[in-house]
Amino acid sequence: MRINTVVFPVAGLGTRFLPATKVIPKEMLPVVDKPLIQYAVEEALAAGAKKLVFVTGRTKAAIADHFDMAYELETELEKRGKQELLELVENILPDGVECVYVRQRQALGLGHAVLCAAPVVDDDFFGIILPDDLIDHPASPALVQLAEHGARIGGSVISVREVAMEQTASYGVVEVDGFEDRSGRLQGIVEKPDPADAPSNLAVVGRYLLSQRIFELLRSTRPDHRGEIQITDAIAELLRVERVDALRFVGRHYDCGSKLGFLQATVALGRRHAEVGAAFDAWLQAETP
Ligand code: G1P
Repeated sequence: MRINTVVFPVAGLGTRFLPATKVIPKEMLPVVDKPLIQYAVEEALAAGAKKLVFVTGRTKAAIADHFDMAYELETELEKRGKQELLELVENILPDGVECVYVRQRQALGLGHAVLCAAPVVDDDFFGIILPDDLIDHPASPALVQLAEHGARIGGSVISVREVAMEQTASYGVVEVDGFEDRSGRLQGIVEKPDPADAPSNLAVVGRYLLSQRIFELLRSTRPDHRGEIQITDAIAELLRVERVDALRFVGRHYDCGSKLGFLQATVALGRRHAEVGAAFDAWLQAETP
């Protein structure tokens, strides 16, 4: 299954990274030398996406600028003969990929953010990537794994990983009858349950391949006790009418919405970086106990 459209909910304020995110969107913070959002976009492109839908808010203009042409910069790099850097900047987005920006005017939850994208998503199935969840993929990007599984079952797929039971209150948590070859049909899903009420320790991380039907369900999803419309609640309805599978993806997940996860991602990706990886690794080994 090629995923034509991918939605990136990026309207969040990023308060956990203040003061860094006072003027810079948190999605523009770099992990080594690429902004977080670019990792997400590269994953979408790997899955075949041709339409990228960014659900933004105020103060997020830098994201649109990043994926636009930078005329002055490109002209200057060309003039100075900096061919390699020029290509780096020019190739952020390949030709034929369309970016669409829609605004989420109020922070009414992830489900509401996804619903804001409804007018521009025409496909039977579409992807969602939460850029905070960086998934490092030795073999194939997480969204590609979801697309492959989606093609096999002809249905929706959400990515899950095991977390410590104490962490269930930070995630959507799924109930699955059993797993065969890393996947299982979803029986239930709840948003941020207390460990005592959690149906399992399988947490949703930010990759979804969802059927168009989700929009209709989101329209009738009531806000939860925090006043937010949750995608989790709409998925709980979707699985009653269509097949939805949970897939334990292969790859390492970093929660870049937290400082700890962001640092872990920086170290892990920094150590493998083509230019500075070897030197950074040597320094880490020599300087850290
Ligand atoms: C959102 C979803 C949650 C999911 C998580 C993954 O929560 O609502 O179900 O497990 O993303 O990162 P948030 O982290 O935005 O509170």
